[in-house]
Amino acid sequence: MSKSGPSLLFTHQLSNEVIFSLFEKAKLYKETQFHNIPDSYSGAVPLLLFFEPSTRTKVSFQMAMSRLGLKPIMIDVNEQSSVVKGETYLDTLKNIMAMKPDLLVVRYGEDKEITNYLEAQETPVINGGGGVSEHPTQALLDAFTIYEEYGQFQNRKILLIGDIVHSRVASSNIHLLTSLGAQVGLFSDEDLCKDYSSQKYMFETLAQALAWADVIMPLRPQKERFKQYGYSASSYAEKFCLRQEHLKMLRSDQIVMHPGPWNESVDIEEAVVNSENSRIFQQVENGVYVRAALIDSILSEKHK
Ligand code: CP
Repeated sequence: MSKSGPSLLFTHQLSNEVIFSLFEKAKLYKETQFHNIPDSYSGAVPLLLFFEPSTRTKVSFQMAMSRLGLKPIMIDVNEQSSVVKGETYLDTLKNIMAMKPDLLVVRYGEDKEITNYLEAQETPVINGGGGVSEHPTQALLDAFTIYEEYGQFQNRKILLIGDIVHSRVASSNIHLLTSLGAQVGLFSDEDLCKDYSSQKYMFETLAQALAWADVIMPLRPQKERFKQYGYSASSYAEKFCLRQEHLKMLRSDQIVMHPGPWNESVDIEEAVVNSENSRIFQQVENGVYVRAALIDSILSEKHK
C-alpha cells in the first residue's frame, strides 16, 4: 500500500499516487454511502489498540470498519486490559499480535521501542497517532477535505496556528501538504515552533497570517506533551485563539479547519467552529471515508 509495505506508520510512506488513489476511493464511498462495498475480506478481523485517549480517530476507524462490513475488536487499554496489572505497552502489543489480527490500528505516545517493534511486523499496522511526530490518517483526511474544497493543492496556502512543535497533526500535515504542492505557513511562538524556524512562510501577526491563507488551522496547546508548560489558557488564547471577531477579516473562499480536540475559547471560539467558513465537522465526516479507503486498500492487498 505504502512505499515500504502494507503498513502506514509514517506520512512519508505515502506517495502522491497512493494518496490520490485513496482520495478516489474515499470520494466514491462518500457519494455512494458505502453501497457496493467489496466482500473480498469479509472475514478479516481488525483490532484497535489505543494507549492514549481519542474520540475522533478511534470512533472514525470503528465506523469505517463497520461500514466495510468488518467487526473490529476494540480494547480500552488503560481500563480493561492487563496494563492495569502492570503489563507494559510493548508486552501488551506482543500478546495482541500473537493472536494474528488482520490489521492493527494503534495509538501510542513517544516510544521508539514500540515504533521499532511495529516497523518489524508483517501484519499491517496503521498508526492512529504516535508521539509528537506522526498522525498520517489525520493528514490524509485534512488533505482530502482541502482537495474537496479547491480541487488541487498547487500553491494553496495552509496556515497552522499556535502549538506546532508538540502537534503530530502539524508535523504530518506539513510533510504531506508540502509534498502535494501546497505552501504551509506558521503563526506561532519561538518556543512553540522551534524545530520549524526555517519554514518559509512565518508571520508576525495573526492578521497578516489570516490575509495570506486559504486554509486556516488553529491547534490546541498540547499541554500533556510540554516538558514545562509556560502558557496559561489566557496567554495562549490572547495570542492564538481564532475568535468570532476574526470572521469579519475572512473572505468567503477561505476555510477554517481544526483536527480536534479543540479547547473552547483557548484556540478557537465556538462561533468560528459553527461559522460558514468552518469545515471542521466535514473533516470528521471525511475521516470515515478516507480511513475506509485506507483499510480497503490494505486488506484487499492482503487477501489477494
Ligand atoms: N484529531 C484527533 O486525533 O482527535 P482524537 O484525539 O479525538 O482522536
